[in-house]
Amino acid sequence: MHLLIPAAGSGKRMGSDRNKLLLPLLGQPILAWTLQAAAAAQTIEWIGIIGQPIDFDDFTTILTDLNLTKPVQLIQGGSTRQESVYNGLQALPTDAPTVLIHDGARCLATPDLFDRCAAALQTCDGLIAGIPVKDTIKVVDSELLIQDTPDRSNLWAAQTPQGFSVPLLRKCHDEGVAQGWEVTDDAALFERCNLPVKIVAGEETNLKVTTPVDLAIAEFILKSRNLGH
Ligand code: C5P
Repeated sequence: MHLLIPAAGSGKRMGSDRNKLLLPLLGQPILAWTLQAAAAAQTIEWIGIIGQPIDFDDFTTILTDLNLTKPVQLIQGGSTRQESVYNGLQALPTDAPTVLIHDGARCLATPDLFDRCAAALQTCDGLIAGIPVKDTIKVVDSELLIQDTPDRSNLWAAQTPQGFSVPLLRKCHDEGVAQGWEVTDDAALFERCNLPVKIVAGEETNLKVTTPVDLAIAEFILKSRNLGH
């Protein structure tokens, strides 16, 4: 299975002036944790890291330190996540029939989650890891007035990995460019093209490190895992 890791974002919501994935988490950069888990998954055989060229020296240092046995390629990202994944799809080896896409910022995903997504992708063309939402979700307008309360039993929080047939996902991304769609995950492009996307059970600990609080929670979870072993 080929894996693309979008890692070309900034650290704006983290309050950082550099790529948040380079911030330290228990002694190594956030991205190193993501790469370690991905590389430990049995099904992953190739990893493409999508980043901004300004970060490539740091990415190379991380890769040297991790000394991974699987091939890794650096790919130039774009100005949005959607553009970054588009570039990643162009850089995939031509013999890749399917692909998993996993945000670099989800550094707590376990190798088992990658393997379960890879296995499920043998039986469908599109899937995402997801978990049922715990909060009641409100739809709110620009005046901060609640417009709707969707039935919680139908609501799932989207995570990554997300997995797709490569030719279909390429088509969806091309359609997205042609139609000017702006989306925050790849499943949304599949959905807009009326293609089915399945949910695979995600992990409650598979959080996306976005703000400083997430970093503290991630540190706590990693420490608890170490104690567990
Ligand atoms: O900003 P956020 O954490 O939602 O971004 C999700 C993932 O997409 C992150 O891993 C980030 O590095 C990546 N990204 C990207 N290219 C961008 C913006 C975000 O690869 N232009």
